[in-house]
Amino acid sequence: MSDIITVVAPVNIAVIKYWGKRDAKLNIPLNDSVSGTLDAKVMCAKTSVCVRPDFEEDRLWLNGENVSIYKENFQKCLNKIRILAKEQKSRDEKFLTWKVHICSENNFPTAAGLASSAAGFACLVTALSKLYGVQTDVSALARLGSGSACRSVYGGFVRWHAGSNPDGSDSIAKQVVDSSYWPEMKVLILVVADNKKSTSSTKGMIITAKTSELIDHRCRVTVPSRVEKMCEAIKRKDFPTFAELTMKDSNEFHAVCLSSYPPCVYLTDVSNKIIEIIHRYNEMRGSPKVAYTFDAGPNACLYLLEEEVPKVISLIKYFFPSSSETFIKGLPCPDLKEEFTNELQI
Ligand code: DP6
Repeated sequence: MSDIITVVAPVNIAVIKYWGKRDAKLNIPLNDSVSGTLDAKVMCAKTSVCVRPDFEEDRLWLNGENVSIYKENFQKCLNKIRILAKEQKSRDEKFLTWKVHICSENNFPTAAGLASSAAGFACLVTALSKLYGVQTDVSALARLGSGSACRSVYGGFVRWHAGSNPDGSDSIAKQVVDSSYWPEMKVLILVVADNKKSTSSTKGMIITAKTSELIDHRCRVTVPSRVEKMCEAIKRKDFPTFAELTMKDSNEFHAVCLSSYPPCVYLTDVSNKIIEIIHRYNEMRGSPKVAYTFDAGPNACLYLLEEEVPKVISLIKYFFPSSSETFIKGLPCPDLKEEFTNELQI
């Protein structure tokens, strides 16, 4: 007797960045953030979870490799779901004593700093909550694993509300517009380096919160008004405003990282060259046609409308003739896709 559930979840790319935690244990952020979810067909994580009475211990495989499930963020998700299942009596007591095996893989390089943990945890908690039959806000569960994961639970554009409750119950993601709303919007990812980033996001946020003199201004002044303007721009399909807000937020986020001590340096000379090229291109075109944004790594994510894609690819190939790793990722994506490989049988 066994139950297996498989879920696929896409990567999301923030246009207003999450950086800094009000509560590090619960991953409650200092500020709201907004992201676009990529098409799950091109960049996604796929996770299968299975419980069986004869499993001797909880186990986890990531991209084919057996890794420890006792890492804090996995334990937080698993424990919370088992507690909810017990409280909600969604499964009988025997079921809750059985061990779980989790198998997750990405269809893109994990170490490339391309938000792999976001897709991974969105998948994991969705699959586990189905398996254990719990009724809860899945984005809040995903947040426990990795903050940005809560936004990968939905397609389209998504806002993560920081919330104000001490237990994080209102720190959840909500869809701004669904995946069919702005189909012309595309994302192009320029892989500048696919090696592991120097300072992880989790660590970088701690350094910033402790030492940056700019983070408070960002969270109190710039981001709150920018988030509202961003959601409005998305609803109006106002690309120039969307682009300007996206680039300003990426720049401010990296300025805050640099103002940390020691500084968190994520951009490289190539990243900075991309920024310069995009600004020159937008100036030449008379209004913003492309927006760059960089997470905690050197890879550029370019948001642009479909009609711009061929021109921008030529532009990148002109400046980086040897770049073979430029690839296009489509937006928006369908909402979280669930594939049930087995009917639940207890
Ligand atoms: C720069 O969600 O990876 O990508 O909550 O510690 O797991 P943890 O951090 P994580 O941070 C993502 C930071 C970012 C910006 C963003 O996605 O909003």
